[in-house]
Amino acid sequence: MTVEGDVRDQGLAEEGRLRVEWADRQMPVLQRIRERFEKEQPLEGITIAACLHVTTETANLMRTLKAGGADVALCASNPLSTQDPTAAALVATYEIPTYAIRGVDDDLYYKHINAVLDRRPMISMDDGGDLVFTLHSKRTEQLAEIIGGTEETTTGVIRLKAMEAKGVLGYPVVSINDADTKHLFDNRYGTGQSAMDGIIRSTNVLIAGKTVVVCGYGQCGRGVANRFRGLGASVIVTEIDPTRALEAAMDGFRVMSGHEAARHGDIFITVTGNKHVLRDVHFEVMKDGAILANAGHFDIEIDLRSLRAMSSSQREVRHEVTEFALEGDRKIYVLSEGRLVNLAAAEGHPASVMDMSFANQSLSCEWLAKNHASLEKSVYPVPEDIDKEVARLKLDTMGVRIDELTKEQSAYLEEWQEGT
Ligand code: ADE
Repeated sequence: MTVEGDVRDQGLAEEGRLRVEWADRQMPVLQRIRERFEKEQPLEGITIAACLHVTTETANLMRTLKAGGADVALCASNPLSTQDPTAAALVATYEIPTYAIRGVDDDLYYKHINAVLDRRPMISMDDGGDLVFTLHSKRTEQLAEIIGGTEETTTGVIRLKAMEAKGVLGYPVVSINDADTKHLFDNRYGTGQSAMDGIIRSTNVLIAGKTVVVCGYGQCGRGVANRFRGLGASVIVTEIDPTRALEAAMDGFRVMSGHEAARHGDIFITVTGNKHVLRDVHFEVMKDGAILANAGHFDIEIDLRSLRAMSSSQREVRHEVTEFALEGDRKIYVLSEGRLVNLAAAEGHPASVMDMSFANQSLSCEWLAKNHASLEKSVYPVPEDIDKEVARLKLDTMGVRIDELTKEQSAYLEEWQEGT
């Protein structure tokens, strides 16, 4: 059978298959769901268009949806995060139409998004919202065909909630990011490890003894700050939210304004979801040799346009490392063109944590297939029973047993008379 798609080289499929299988060994929850889906076929007759980072972990999610009976197609959610061998295996081995080539320009990136939408999906699965936004701006005639969507990431959920508030959201979307078994693990441990991995792979600098500035103390920022502290860095946190700033201070980090931190940092990592977190006022005072990386979804956190305007020359000094020459013989280094360093310079979050995120994705698709008729055009959290089931399954696959309430304890929690 010839499977449609656009990948760099189908000759890479065998390497991709081995890597996908390697990741699958670390995804036991998804494996269990896949086995059940194979028997029960809960997604039979459902067409799903997915716009996700094309990694080995995503390949295992696609296999799971297909095992459940869905007709699935995949495109990339970022021009620099595609693993070409994985994309090849998806098409050639797993027979899943895939449109993803690492390093595409914006034009081909959107052609790929349109290719999966041409398949007239009933469910959209996004990481960052590019499918939803293409549907709502350029392909509105398809909105009525869609029974629901899912969104993987913080950035995408913020945009969806803004659409919901303005009354323009055209169908129900499940916010995968809001599940505890997603953001408390993927965002914290996943981003913590993979951002560090990307920075180390691309620069090979010693972290011990460096001053690392982490911009943003959400779950991702917490993960990054803790992992860099663990390798011996002196970590500074910058924040705009007073409560988060206080937490960072009481977690033992130095907290200061971005402008002050800019003078101290050797390595800067943005994880805020907002734009121009590092900009001209910061570049002006940074030390010679400062390294800048972004681990937020879009490449807007570092204001590269003003860095370019301030610099007399630019050159690639290593793979994924661009040098900007500034006045006074200072050099600033930007990793992966300011795109997500964890996926562009490394392989994204490890499979073991994506196991939970993608279990939520799979079970939420099943939930949408069953419940779409009664849903509003709103953003829905992952149902609590799914979230808890993912936690239970993960613990079970880790061989961890936990306690249950005794009858006496359950009764105590339901009454109010017993006091001092
Ligand atoms: N987002 C972060 N890491 C990822 C991974 N390994 N696969 C898919 N999406 C991701």
